[in-house]
Amino acid sequence: MARVFVSNHPLIRHKVTLLRDIHTEPKKFRELIREVAILLAYEATADLGVQEVSVQTPLATAKGYELTDKIGLVPILRAGLGMVEGIWEMMPAAEVWHIGLYRDHRTLQPIEYYNKLPVHPTVQVCLILDPMLATGGSAVATVDILKRWGAKRIKFVGIIGAPEGVERLSTAHPDVDIHLAAIDDHLTPEPSKPGDPPAGYIVPGLGDAGDRQFGTG
Ligand code: PRP
Ligand code: URA
Repeated sequence: MARVFVSNHPLIRHKVTLLRDIHTEPKKFRELIREVAILLAYEATADLGVQEVSVQTPLATAKGYELTDKIGLVPILRAGLGMVEGIWEMMPAAEVWHIGLYRDHRTLQPIEYYNKLPVHPTVQVCLILDPMLATGGSAVATVDILKRWGAKRIKFVGIIGAPEGVERLSTAHPDVDIHLAAIDDHLTPEPSKPGDPPAGYIVPGLGDAGDRQFGTG
């Protein structure tokens, strides 16, 4: 089974509470997505490889370290976009490869609409970025794409997961570590009466992460 990490960090728990709040406006929501993404990426990259280098300080030569792995940030459009910028500032040498997927509203199946990966892999470690792991369909499809590309090490960095999505991703790709800020209760079922929310949303969740970032809800 995949390793699933759910952060207990107080800063993350505080910020995720604000993200969930229906009264949090898009500007604040985007700031929070950015901040939580940085904190989660810090934890998700704790096992990256480093090699020893020597560095000249103003006083002497010192032993130092540099990252050995080339990192690829792979946001799933749209909602994953908000997780890129902050993490990228922490690791400016990373490459960013966008994958465009949307969930078909009726079937909840991911539909691919954007992928400009070059023929051969250019990075050693891929961090898939998407705030929501709901049915897991989009995450599994993205890992499939990256594995076909030849990516060897892949981690999923999300914010809120549903038990169904965590199970689906970890069963389909047991070698992919999953980093989340929270695992919620369940997914909404098929609506049975007018006014019910659409199927496949995380409960309690935070609503539609793309719409809340981009003000399109
Ligand atoms: C959301 C979210 C994930 C996906 C999760 O994207 O950002 O990509 O749904 O659902 P799943 O685990 O059931 O696949 P959405 O399809 O709403 O597109 P958007 O980001 O463009 O709004
Ligand atoms: N996508 C979202 O943005 N939110 C959910 O709860 C599920 C999928």
